[in-house]
This record gives sequence, C-alpha cells and structure tokens, in this order.
Amino acid sequence: MFAIIGTWKMCHDGLTEAAALLAGGASAGDAVERAITRVEDNPAYVSVGYGGLPARDGHVLLDAGYMDGNALRYGGIMAAENIQNPIRAARLLCGRETNCLLAGRGAEQFAVSAGLPMRDMRTAESTARWREAMQSLRDEAPLDAYRGHDTVCVLALDSSGRMVAGTSTSGLFLKEPGRVGDSPIVGSGFYCDARYGAAAATGLGEDVMRGCLSYEIVSLMRRGADAQSACEEALRGLADRKRALGEAAGSISLIALSAQGGFGASTTLDVFPFVTGDGTGAHLMAAQPAGNTMRIGTATAEELAGEP
Ligand code: GLY
Repeated sequence: MFAIIGTWKMCHDGLTEAAALLAGGASAGDAVERAITRVEDNPAYVSVGYGGLPARDGHVLLDAGYMDGNALRYGGIMAAENIQNPIRAARLLCGRETNCLLAGRGAEQFAVSAGLPMRDMRTAESTARWREAMQSLRDEAPLDAYRGHDTVCVLALDSSGRMVAGTSTSGLFLKEPGRVGDSPIVGSGFYCDARYGAAAATGLGEDVMRGCLSYEIVSLMRRGADAQSACEEALRGLADRKRALGEAAGSISLIALSAQGGFGASTTLDVFPFVTGDGTGAHLMAAQPAGNTMRIGTATAEELAGEP
C-alpha cells in the first residue's frame, strides 16, 4: 500500500509520475522529489522554482523544506538564488546532524559543492511580471500579493512504511529580500513523523507560522484524529484565535496524510484544489468550506478554471 498527496492542480503531472514510482516500489523520498522537481522545472507555475515570483529587488529567492518522518530529520534552504531544484538541496541537507537549514549564500554554496545544477531562475516573463507590479506600487494602485498559487507541498507514504514531506516555493510576491515564509520552517510549512503521519501548508506563511500548523496537525493525529479531522481542527483553531483578535482568517490551505494512508485537506479559500495518488491512480480533488466542516470531492472543471 502507498499513498501520496500534493497541493494545487500544478502538482498533478508530477504526482502522477511519483505515484507510478511508488507503485513500482520506489521510496517516499524519491516520489516527493520527483513530484516537486516537475513543478520547479516548469516556468508556467509562477510561484515555484524556475520563473518564480520575484522579490522587490527583482531576484527569485527560493525556500524549500524536506522531512524524513522515519528518522525524524529535516533539511531546508531559504532565501536562496539560482538553485535549479531547491527540493533536492533540502533533501541533501536532511540527515545532517547540524547545519541542516541554510540561508542565502550558504545554501547556494552548499548546492554548488553538492554538484546540484545552478541556473538563473528569472525568466523574461517573471521579470516582466515584477516590472509591472513595481510600477503598480509606484502608482499606488492596489497590488494583489499573490499572482498564481503559492507553495507546492507533497506528502508520501511508500510500501515499506516510509513517510516524507517536501515543500518548495518562491514565496510571497514582492517580498522584502531576506523574507522567509513557512515553507522551509519545520513544524510550520511541513512536518512528518512516520508513526502518525505528515502535514504541510500553503498560503500566507506569516499566518501559518503563528499556529505552527503542520506540527499541530501531526500532533492531533498522534492523539487519534484522522487526517481530515486534524486538518479541519488545526485550521479552525487558528481562524478562531485570529477572529478573537479581530483579524480575518487569512489565506491558508492544509494537507495531511496519515500513517495508514488516509488523506486530509482544509482551506480558508472558497475552493482549494489538491491531488491524491494511490493504487487507483492520481485524482484531482477540491476542498471547500461548508459550514463548520469541509466538503471534499473530485474537482470539477469549474473549480479548476483559472488554475495554472
Ligand atoms: N507559504 C509560502 C510563503 O508564505 O512564503
């Protein structure tokens, strides 16, 4: 038995390949790396990897995280430039005793010394997007912070019971250089303990980190919740707390995978597309808030309209 889940429609093709790898006996780590590198390499997905959303200075600054839930070890890079596949750097850093989370120049030097491919991650399109947005800022026109969708997160359970979580993103559009979101931060953007399950988050990192949401979900599964209830309860907890502080719920979506292969998803958006994979293939799904709970079902063409 194996299972894999990822955020947004953009991970569908990579996750389909990853599910085929798992069906052939590959490890959860290889499956997560395959699914995420497919998104990182595709400049049509503007919030991850090559052609990602630039920071204010026009540079594409990348965050990624990786956790091995059997060894309870993690690795990550943050605010790093020119690393073609940030998830591969994060995976290589996982397993180190120390120095497993590297920022900026240190992350780039590590990637070079590890022999990972480096490239200028800007494209003509990403630079044009940045120029246009900077012009809007100068004109003081309202600016939508997110163009396209946020972090690709993938959680996998392989047929040997190994579990892995991975994330990759270029982060908040027009962020200040040096700003780091939740995606490389263990416990916030991702968490994995193979005894209970794995979780990951996409959305505004500043909010996700306030609730340490991925650790919270795994912690709820440790206490007996299934993956779906854990996603719903963790999100409700933060949204209620923010509401009590007079703040809106914000933009957050969560996924989880239990150690038994159960899937979960929750969101504050009207619709959150995600992808699941198991022995029956890969499936495009959608989560939608419905009162105090989530409606989970196969994604319709209407729900996927406008999705990259
Ligand atoms: N969730 C990604 C970020 O806020 O950077």
